[in-house]
Amino acid sequence: MTAAFRMPTPHHENPERFIAAMAGAATQVSVVTTDGPAGRFGVTVSAFSSVSAEPPLVLVCINRRSPAIQAIEANDAFCVNLLGDDQADIANCFAGRPGALAPYDFTGCTWESATTGAPALSGAIANFDCRVETSYDAGTHRIFIGRVVEALSRDAAPLAFSKRAYQALRPL
Ligand SMILES: Cc1cc2nc3c(=O)[nH]c(=O)nc-3n(C[C@H](O)[C@H](O)[C@H](O)COP(=O)(O)O)c2cc1C
Repeated sequence: MTAAFRMPTPHHENPERFIAAMAGAATQVSVVTTDGPAGRFGVTVSAFSSVSAEPPLVLVCINRRSPAIQAIEANDAFCVNLLGDDQADIANCFAGRPGALAPYDFTGCTWESATTGAPALSGAIANFDCRVETSYDAGTHRIFIGRVVEALSRDAAPLAFSKRAYQALRPL
């Protein structure tokens, strides 16, 4: 009996087609924050996922050019703040986009200090305060896996991103 196998793909997809296809993904919008000896930073992120419930682990992928990378490593902590559908201004703020709030300005909204010291956004759908469990470099990004030390939630509508625009969800 011969084993079925596939020849290795001779090339990988080009970035433009990859980005165009990825625009079809619907993702939740979060702001990942950190604070500590290396300073306070926040960055808007759609690359967030639950990893495990026991122990509670999540992951985020952040561009290695972001100053938040070094700060998260040095502070050894980050908080994932899942935004509500009334918080698109906050998403733009921490994506460095001009809008109602000054880019990267924490004073435009209300924060609490989470267990790790990272800023937890008041009024977020959920806050996952994490210690860094491990991290990996992958392409242009770093994958941080965080062990959740505190998870808070509130009943509100999430902010989604798809087709290069913010979206609100509706029940079917
Ligand atoms: C909806 C949305 C989702 C984003 N998701 C990610 C992400 O998952 N990872 C990431 O590194 N950057 C993501 N970004 C981009 C960063 O927020 C942005 O590049 C970063 O804040 C630095 O921007 P600047 O260098 O132009 O100021 C996202 C931006 C937006 C608006």
